[in-house]
Amino acid sequence: DERTFVMVKPDGVQRGLIGDIVARFEDRGLKMVGGKFMQIDEELAHEHYGEHEGKPFFDGLVDFITSGPVFAMVWEGADATRQVRQMMGETDPAESAPGTIRGDLGLDLGQNVIHGSDHEDEGANEREIELFFDEDELVEWDQTDAVWVYEDEDH
Ligand code: GTP
Ligand code: MG
Repeated sequence: DERTFVMVKPDGVQRGLIGDIVARFEDRGLKMVGGKFMQIDEELAHEHYGEHEGKPFFDGLVDFITSGPVFAMVWEGADATRQVRQMMGETDPAESAPGTIRGDLGLDLGQNVIHGSDHEDEGANEREIELFFDEDELVEWDQTDAVWVYEDEDH
């Protein structure tokens, strides 16, 4: 099954939204295979957001993502990367539909609560998982209620 990288950003942690966000992915039927409460340093921030280096908002973005702890996660499931992005809403919470994570929990582009790998950027999910997690930090396990989520065994 596909794996994707997801992270509750410092604003989401400070506002006590980790539980809400984890519950949404659990409720959807996705399976958590990695989770880590951590502080991002300058170097990791530059690597993670390398594609935005040179843009006017880059320095602010690095300051923000290193400003406090984050909760980094790996979620697994059918079409996981695209499904998580749909659940997140648009980059700007103000443009995000109610029912989405950013649409329910945020109002400001610079503090948009959550990160998820870009499904339009081929391999971004695997790259980001590798950047944040060692292989032995990911857990393979059988989610017993998966038979009630997926019709076919090998979905
Ligand atoms: P991430 O999941 O954080 O990668 O968001 P995204 O994939 O929806 O958006 P993108 O990768 O394009 O931008 C990364 C982050 O930079 C966003 O989450 C925003 O917080 C911030 N950002 C993007 N565009 C702008 C902008 O025009 N102005 C400002 N201030 N911040 C921006
Ligand atoms: Mg992005």
